[in-house]
Amino acid sequence: MDEQSIIAIKEINEKKPSKPKACVVTFGCQQNVADSEKIKGMLELMGYETIDADMTDDIAGNFGQFDEKSILGSCDAIILNTCAVREHAELKAFSRTGQLKHYKNKNKDMLIGLCGCMPEQKHALEYIKKSYRHVDFVFGTRSIHKFPEIFYETLANKKKIIQNEPAEETIDEQLPVKRDSLFLARVSAMYGCDNFCSYCVVPNVRGRERSRSKDKILEEICGLVLSGYKDITLLGQNVNSYKDPENPGYGFARLLGDITKIEGDYWIRFLTSHPKDVPDELINLMGESDKIARHFHLPVQAGSDRILKLMNRKYTQKNYLELIEKLKKNVKDIAIASDIIVGFPSETEEDFRQTLDIIEKAQFDQIFPFIYSKRENTPAAEMEDKTPRKEKTERFMRLVQMQNLITEKKNKAYEGKTVKVLVDGEHKNSDGGEKKYMAGRTTAHKLAIFEGGPGLVGRFVDVKINSGKLHGLYGDISPAKRP
Ligand code: 5AD
Ligand code: SF4
Repeated sequence: MDEQSIIAIKEINEKKPSKPKACVVTFGCQQNVADSEKIKGMLELMGYETIDADMTDDIAGNFGQFDEKSILGSCDAIILNTCAVREHAELKAFSRTGQLKHYKNKNKDMLIGLCGCMPEQKHALEYIKKSYRHVDFVFGTRSIHKFPEIFYETLANKKKIIQNEPAEETIDEQLPVKRDSLFLARVSAMYGCDNFCSYCVVPNVRGRERSRSKDKILEEICGLVLSGYKDITLLGQNVNSYKDPENPGYGFARLLGDITKIEGDYWIRFLTSHPKDVPDELINLMGESDKIARHFHLPVQAGSDRILKLMNRKYTQKNYLELIEKLKKNVKDIAIASDIIVGFPSETEEDFRQTLDIIEKAQFDQIFPFIYSKRENTPAAEMEDKTPRKEKTERFMRLVQMQNLITEKKNKAYEGKTVKVLVDGEHKNSDGGEKKYMAGRTTAHKLAIFEGGPGLVGRFVDVKINSGKLHGLYGDISPAKRP
């Protein structure tokens, strides 16, 4: 990170009559959310007040018109941090970029930037250059540390900067972070992915695997625990393949073990894991430490061995189910979540039934289902895909129906139990009446809803579950503890 650019931008901003505002809009996964926290950290050092806006909602957002009183309309800079994992995400980023033209037309000094995964693809970059002339700067995930230089050139020298080539894959430990929460934190452990699952664009847009030094990660987590953070998520596209760069024998299980030695009342989570990288050492550690959240996001993607092979996943249905069994046996009350892709090229009804079969056998607590989306420059894009969209949608619905019954049954099993919950905020669907409902997460990442007050936010409470439903656990805290 170029500090000179930061200082120079700050000096420019200090001359303005009021503190300028910058908005970072985030699409996509937790990696992008973490990257946005870094971009906001840099913007704050540059003298901006940073604000968030949600442009992900298709229905509520009326972004096609300029409104100077809206969050976006009052901004001096808007940066869209984009996702490219599925076509839908990419189309949304394009459409939102197009809508920002109205803002630029009304306020010529407003700077508009695009970053994240989408511009790391050649075809997308070409399209941006050709179609969105109101965009002032573009940089991809691997150039995040170059943001201050790029931003300085556009702000001070009025240059249009489109980062064409991905920057060298480094890890910049100097990037500041402006965290979105005072009690939930994301900590990047590693970046990139070397797995090359045949459908996935991530290795192309985030580059090769590279891990942060264990000392830096431990130092960051110590600081977070001391500052009162209660739920810390280690992030990596393939987080369990973590290796300390100074000592490749020091892997993810050792890192997690060292983190649990940090004293304090907190949970440590991690996202996302590949089933091929779950050694017994990790499972045993999860069974032994209460600090490690009882939650494992372990995408299986498909149930058919033929499809798993075509996906380049490197395990079979049998291997995966054995792993799940081991986890359930060794880690009491563990919740397992999974990603599933429906309609991968050449998936037959029989292949799909194998996916239903694995869902039935694995008894996941939650799944994130997706319909296969063809991505340019991935091996699967070359595979013949004759299944009509309608059939894929039907399979998707069957999958969701089956999982809903399992989720409901699993949540019902909580009835009568008391669970520890980290309170997140007011429940979105609070009925607006006298009573206030709060929502939080359990160690298993289940949503818990109960009557309470804002004084509980960021604190652990015990909730007695009265009713377990599809979308969460409904319960009560002791009335004496309601603030
Ligand atoms: N189509 C559909 N889903 C995909 N995912 C990744 N690539 C694709 C694709 N091309 C899903 C996988 C992954 C999750 C983050 O997104 O299930 O685990
Ligand atoms: Fe994509 Fe596979 Fe890497 Fe996950 S492990 S990011 S699905 S290539």
